[in-house]
Amino acid sequence: MPAVPSHVRGARFIGWGTTLGHKTVTNDDLSKTLDTSDAWIRERTGIERRHIGGSTAELSIASALQAMKMADVDPKSIDAVVLSTTTPDRTVPATSATVQNALGLSCGAFDVNAACSGFVYALVNAHGLIAMGAERVLLIGTDTLARITDWSDRNTAVLFADGSGAAVLDSTPGKGHLLAWDLDADGSAEDLLYCDLGGFIKMEGKEVFRRAVRIMVDSAEKSMKAAGVTSKDLALVVPHQANIRIIEAACDRLGVEKDRAAVIINETGNTSSASIPLALFDAVEKGRVKQGDLVLLVGFGAGMTAASAIIEWGAQ
Ligand code: ACO
Repeated sequence: MPAVPSHVRGARFIGWGTTLGHKTVTNDDLSKTLDTSDAWIRERTGIERRHIGGSTAELSIASALQAMKMADVDPKSIDAVVLSTTTPDRTVPATSATVQNALGLSCGAFDVNAACSGFVYALVNAHGLIAMGAERVLLIGTDTLARITDWSDRNTAVLFADGSGAAVLDSTPGKGHLLAWDLDADGSAEDLLYCDLGGFIKMEGKEVFRRAVRIMVDSAEKSMKAAGVTSKDLALVVPHQANIRIIEAACDRLGVEKDRAAVIINETGNTSSASIPLALFDAVEKGRVKQGDLVLLVGFGAGMTAASAIIEWGAQ
């Protein structure tokens, strides 16, 4: 899978922001209406609470405003909005168009849907735009899974939630921060995890779990090989936050100890497209990532998709 060619114009993050759904829902709250318990959810998923509420556009706008403020750039200098989401507010137009208008931008805008791998798919797309001449791209990962969750189904209701993460990607004089990437999909597995139009998420949890670990590790290994690094070189792994046991199993197979993994699932639940940016920027805000550190982003999701990227934090 591709290492980024050295002659391609690169990019790096110059601002970021995150938002969670408006309302906090604890495991005990769910236990009032579902045959479940705080102990079961914590032990089997690692989730303690989640945050739900808000539309995909609302959450995207909130995190994008923070990212643009931090980046301190003229909105006119943004050449595209790339929004990863599985839960657009309407079938058409793309929610990115709503976000573009609300932010007063005059540029292209499109949505990317690769389920929970979507943020990494969108990141690679955004880098492609910069390689083709764009100066700056607003990259967003937002999902409002609460709207497609059946709150009477304990198999899924304990897992899903709402959130958003956004970043401004700025073109750099040099190769930039993206060293290598990998995007995978296996459409033959689509019936394991799906949501029909107007319906709710259906999932074969055990089989999704089994495959998730394998495809995350495969994708991560492809990106590491392309970048010419090993897991020992990584300062931080930012995995999709679906289940703490999936994260631990994947990290274990990659030879990454707990203290090198970004974990926020206890606080957020599974926010799909938002989960990797939420975990990444949480780690950055906590000072866990320094200039020059190698960071692996790795996700999996419905499709089934998988995606990974190796980033050298802050590289010009
Ligand atoms: N509360 C209490 N008990 C429960 C619950 C619940 N919420 N759910 C299941 N159980 C029970 C089951 O009925 C079963 O009982 P039994 O032993 O009497 O038959 C027992 O708990 C064990 O059930 P399992 O299904 O074996 O539980 P498991 O440990 O596999 O955990 C889970 C289930 C959490 C769904 C897990 O399989 C999982 O996380 N799978 C991956 C899901 C995932 O990542 N999905 C998102 C993909 S990303 C995207 O694109 C959106």
